[in-house]
Amino acid sequence: SRDNIGKARGLGFTPVPMSAADTVVVPPGYSARAFYKWGDAVGIAGKMPAFKPDASNTTQEQASQAGMHHDGMAYFTLPMASSSSNRGLLAMNHEYVDNGLLFKDGTAHWDMNKVRKSQNAMGVSIVEVAKDSGGQWQVVRPSPYARRITPHTPMQVSGPARGHALMKTQADPRGEVVLGTMQNCANGITPWGTYLTCEENWADIFTTQGIPNELEKRYGIGSKDESYRWSELDFRFDTGLTPNEPNRFGWVVEIDPYNPQSVPVKHTALGRIKHEGATVTLAPDNRVVVYSGDDQRFEYIYKFVSNGKYNPNNREANMRLLADGTLYVARFDDQGKGEWLPLVHGQGKLTAENGFADQGEVLVKTRLAADAVGATKMDRPEWIAVDPYKNGSVYCTLTNNNQRGAEGKPGVDAANPRANNRFGHIIHWEEARGNAAATTFDWDILVLAGRHDTDVAEFKGNMPKGAEFGSPDGLSFDHRGVLWIQTDVSASTANIKEYAGMGNNQMLATIPGSHDYRRFLTGPVGSEITGIAFTPDNKTMFVNIQHPGEPKEGDTDPAAPMAISSWPDGPQGGRPRAATVVITKDDGGVIGS
Ligand code: FEO
Ligand code: CA
Ligand code: CA
Ligand code: CA
Repeated sequence: SRDNIGKARGLGFTPVPMSAADTVVVPPGYSARAFYKWGDAVGIAGKMPAFKPDASNTTQEQASQAGMHHDGMAYFTLPMASSSSNRGLLAMNHEYVDNGLLFKDGTAHWDMNKVRKSQNAMGVSIVEVAKDSGGQWQVVRPSPYARRITPHTPMQVSGPARGHALMKTQADPRGEVVLGTMQNCANGITPWGTYLTCEENWADIFTTQGIPNELEKRYGIGSKDESYRWSELDFRFDTGLTPNEPNRFGWVVEIDPYNPQSVPVKHTALGRIKHEGATVTLAPDNRVVVYSGDDQRFEYIYKFVSNGKYNPNNREANMRLLADGTLYVARFDDQGKGEWLPLVHGQGKLTAENGFADQGEVLVKTRLAADAVGATKMDRPEWIAVDPYKNGSVYCTLTNNNQRGAEGKPGVDAANPRANNRFGHIIHWEEARGNAAATTFDWDILVLAGRHDTDVAEFKGNMPKGAEFGSPDGLSFDHRGVLWIQTDVSASTANIKEYAGMGNNQMLATIPGSHDYRRFLTGPVGSEITGIAFTPDNKTMFVNIQHPGEPKEGDTDPAAPMAISSWPDGPQGGRPRAATVVITKDDGGVIGS
C-alpha cells in the first residue's frame, strides 16, 4: 500500500547530474534565483542599509541586515488565517558566522565592536515576501513584520527550568530572562503559526578557564575558541566568570513571526541538547508532539509530548503548550522495535542521589539523563520529518559517524549498522497505532546513503543508480507528501577522498516506499543545502544555500572563500554569500511534479 501512496504522489522531473560547478542547478523547466542574501536589508523601515561587498557594513547596519549562513526556514501565510501562496513571511535561521568573511580585515584588531557585529550576524530573520506584478518573488521593504533576532534579543524562559538555580546569573538573578539565541540550526513550525528555532552548536561559543567540569565536558565546552572569539571580550561567554550562562542555551525557542514586538520563549520542557530541529506533529487527541535530534556523534533522538491539547480556536493558549509535558529519549532495539524512555525526575535513575535534584535539573542535564536511562547512541541525528499522509510515520537523517566502531567507541548496532559510517543513513519509525504520543514504535532503515562504484562495503549506498548521495541532513515533506533530502558533506571530504567525483552538495526527492530517488538540485562550490519551505499550493519552494566557498579544513587564509566561490553575485560581487533561493516551475506547476 505504501507503493500505491508513492505512485499517487508522483515525481515528474528529469533528475540533474552531480555537479562541481559554482552555481545552483535545477531540472529543465525550473528556475532558481537567490533573493535574500547575507547583508541584504531585512526591511525595517528607516533602517535599510545596502550591502557593502567589501564587508564594511557597520555593527549597527548588520543588525538590520540578513545574517550569515542561512539554515532552517519556514513560510507563514499572510494574512495569518489565509492559505495565501502569493504573500507571506519567511522566518529563517542564521546558524553561525565566519569572521574572515564578515570583516574587511578578518579578526585583525579584534575588539568589542567586532564582537558585536559578529553577534549581530547570527540568530533569526523574519522577512516579508510577496510576488510582484510580474509574478516574481521579492522581499517586501519596508515591512512592519521585518525583524532580526540576535544573541542580544531578550527572551523569556518557560517550563521546569524557569527560575531554576542552575539558570540564574548575576545579570538575571531570577533565571527567567535570557539575552538571545545563537547557533540556530534547523527549525520547526507549529500548527498555530509560530516558528521554532533550535540552538545547536552553542557550546562552541563558550570557553572555560582551566579544565571543563563534568557538565561542560558532556556538552563539549572547551577552554579555547579560535572561531568566534566572543568570550575573549564578552565575559558572558567565559564560564569562569558566568558559570551558569551555558545552561541558558541549548533550547528550542518559540517565536511569533506575526508580532514583531513579541518576546521569544525558550521552552526548557523540550530539553537542553544540541538541538538540530524541532519537528511538530499532533497526536490523535491533539496533544502536541515535537521530535528533535541531538547532532553529535553517539547522541540521541528525543520526543516531547505536551500535557495540554492543541485548540485551533485559541492561539494564545496554544503558545503555552510547549511549556508543560513529558520529554522522552529513543531506544532502538535489535529486532526492529523501539521504546520512548521518559526523562522524568524521580523515575528510575533520575533521582537526587544520582545528581538530578528536580525536573529542572533533569532538563538542564538532558544528555546526562538520557545516558542514565540507556537510550541508543545514534550516528549524528539531524532533521526529522513526519509523513503528512501517514500518522505516526517518522524519518530522521543520521548524517554520518566516522567514529562508529573505532577503538574505544561504540560498535555497530541494528539502527546504526555501519562502522566508519561516512555516508550516513535515514532511519524510519512507525509509532504504535499511528499515535505520535505512543511510547513504543517499529523501526526500519529507509536508505543507506553512499555510492555504487566502490568496493568498500560500508561506503555502498542502496538508492537507485544515478541518485547517489551522502551525509543527508535537511529532511522535509512538502504539502504533497514528497520527501526532500538535503546533503551536508563537510568541506573536509566534499568531492575528495571517499566522496571523490560526487561533486557539490545536493537536494533529492523521494516518495517513501517507492524506491524512486531523483536529484533535484546541486549547490555552489563549498556550500551546504539546508533549510526548506513551501507555499501552501506547493508551487514555490524556498531553499537555503549555506556557506558557499567554505574553506577546506586547515585553510586559514581569510581570503579562501573568495578564491573558492563567487556565488551568488559573481566575481565582481566581493564575497560569497549564503542566500535564500526561490524555486518555481516555468509553467507555474507544482514543484517536483
Ligand atoms: Fe547545524 Fe547539525 O547541523
Ligand atoms: Ca544540519
Ligand atoms: Ca550537518
Ligand atoms: Ca551547517
